[in-house]
Amino acid sequence: MIFDTHAHYDDERFDEDREELLLSLKDKGIGTVVNVGASVASTKKTFEIVKEHDFMYGAVGIHPEDVERLDESHMEWLKSLAADEKIVAIGEIGLDYYYDEPERDVQKKWFARQLDLAYELDMPIIIHSRDAAQDTLDIMKAEKAGEIGGVIHCFSYGTEMAREYLNMGFYLGIGGVVTFNNGRKLKEVVEYMPLDRIVLETDCPYLSPVPNRGKRNSSLNLPYVAEAISQIKGISPEEVIKITNQNARNLYRL
Ligand code: NI
Repeated sequence: MIFDTHAHYDDERFDEDREELLLSLKDKGIGTVVNVGASVASTKKTFEIVKEHDFMYGAVGIHPEDVERLDESHMEWLKSLAADEKIVAIGEIGLDYYYDEPERDVQKKWFARQLDLAYELDMPIIIHSRDAAQDTLDIMKAEKAGEIGGVIHCFSYGTEMAREYLNMGFYLGIGGVVTFNNGRKLKEVVEYMPLDRIVLETDCPYLSPVPNRGKRNSSLNLPYVAEAISQIKGISPEEVIKITNQNARNLYRL
């Protein structure tokens, strides 16, 4: 069965058919889904959704684009949610310099603070890092993220950076981009990295793989991602699904 390590089924784009879609996943070979919080509101909704579905787990955390109005009371709140058995990781957290805000210092502060939280709770982390490779790595090293462990979600850097994270013991999340014609850099990373560190992810509703690129994504598209990885690695899609499922269980300690 396929393990989707990163989904956002709380997103409003699933409002009209969320339950129907979630209930259809098992029959289509999707065994487990981790829904990932990104803001205060989406973390709240993530918690509600995963409590209702046996095959779902959740991650709680605040994405770099949403850290502007955080304060310490939010950290206490995340901590209380993380105590629930259905919550398996802290995330998604990190740095995103694609837009000019929030200010980099504010992003760095809350990234480091949430790494502290994960360390304190002994929970794996889900890292979001865009256009911020060196700062992400520097903060993670300073905060001993290698002792926490986790996944670099939607990995978007090259093999040099991949090596750094693999050496720290991290998994790399591979999704729809690996099927894109312009996804050569990611294909090189997949070729370079060992199979036992790959996990599948959708980041749905975003990043639908070819042939559904541009449409709303869901876990149902993951066979296309497994197929693309299988071609690069020269093994069957079934093996990719089996190995990445085990990797995901190790990652989230299930
Ligand atoms: Ni995400």
